[in-house]
Amino acid sequence: MKAKSVLMSAAVALLASGASAQIVGSAHDFSSMAWSGGEICKPCHTPHFAMPGLPRLWNHEMSTATYTMHDAAGTQDDLDERSRLCLSCHDGTVALDSYGGMTGTSYIPSSANIGTDLTNDHPIGADAIYPDTSTRFHPPSSLPSSMRLRPWTDSSGVTRNVVSCGTCHTAHNRGFPHMLNISNSASALCLACHIK
Ligand code: HEC
Ligand code: HEC
Ligand code: HEC
Ligand code: HEC
Repeated sequence: MKAKSVLMSAAVALLASGASAQIVGSAHDFSSMAWSGGEICKPCHTPHFAMPGLPRLWNHEMSTATYTMHDAAGTQDDLDERSRLCLSCHDGTVALDSYGGMTGTSYIPSSANIGTDLTNDHPIGADAIYPDTSTRFHPPSSLPSSMRLRPWTDSSGVTRNVVSCGTCHTAHNRGFPHMLNISNSASALCLACHIK
């Protein structure tokens, strides 16, 4: 009886963790906000009339901020395109409800505001070209499949793979804390790249 109820609660816990590994109910589910019209995807994506020149049917107004990069003074050009998508809300300069042509008034809470000064954040984009041959890093081929590097093209047109916001996080929630792509228990996320 006891063993059975333990089994039962294990099954319930499993179901619960399965159910939580979705965008519904995550920090990115804005459907309960008055400004969202009850929709989930729309602040970020739209099936039609998406913003030209951006990937993933992007619907959120982009930031025009100048970032201070981790290593050096920089501009939007030093960031990979996918990180720019995240920073369209997370640098705190564009309202959450500025999408689909609307001009909003609700901004990201300070707890999730990365700001435009990236010197105190893990390197991304130009500052985090992921080396193929380095004794300090695991080879890219050994990264878990959900931790994808993203392309970034420098001013001379050379494209390299870099660490992006989306290398460590997902916008859609896989059920790990902080919407990470893998669990960072015992620093597993960090150790997937760094040889330490
Ligand atoms: C808070 C913003 C946000 C919300 C809300 C959101 N997405 Fe995304 N989505 C993104 C970003 C950012 C990317 C690109 C991430 C990257 O490539 O690093 C993406 C990528 C995607 C992709 C392509 C990659 C993949 O995972 O297959 C699909 C499909 C997608 N989203 C569908 C959806 C759907 C459907 C919804 C609503 C149920 C949704 N998204 C809600 C931000 C969001
Ligand atoms: C439409 C605006 C928007 C976009 C685009 C967006 N976010 Fe968020 N994100 C938010 C808001 C708002 C919160 C805070 C929610 C809260 O604290 O209530 C948040 C929270 C988070 C959190 C904290 C999660 C937690 O559980 O505490 C992470 C991590 C995050 N976002 C990463 C990303 C990444 C990575 C991307 C791009 C792939 C992205 N976000 C794109 C609006 C956005
Ligand atoms: C190298 C991996 C990595 C990269 C790249 C990265 N993050 Fe994170 N991020 C983390 C980890 C790990 C945490 C959880 C920190 C903790 O345990 O307090 C986190 C936390 C957060 C939080 C929540 C703050 C909190 O204290 O809960 C937000 C929001 C966030 N990241 C957004 C972003 C955005 C936007 C980008 C790109 C500009 C980004 N992250 C790039 C690893 C990363
Ligand atoms: C996807 C690969 C990847 C992951 C995951 C990752 N890093 Fe990094 N990290 C890099 C790269 C690339 C650099 C920049 C290049 C370099 O240091 O040579 C870097 C730089 C750093 C630096 C040096 C910053 C400086 O100012 O010199 C520290 C510290 C660091 N990472 C810590 C962490 C921690 C802690 C985690 C886990 C939360 C983490 N990294 C996860 C790839 C990664």
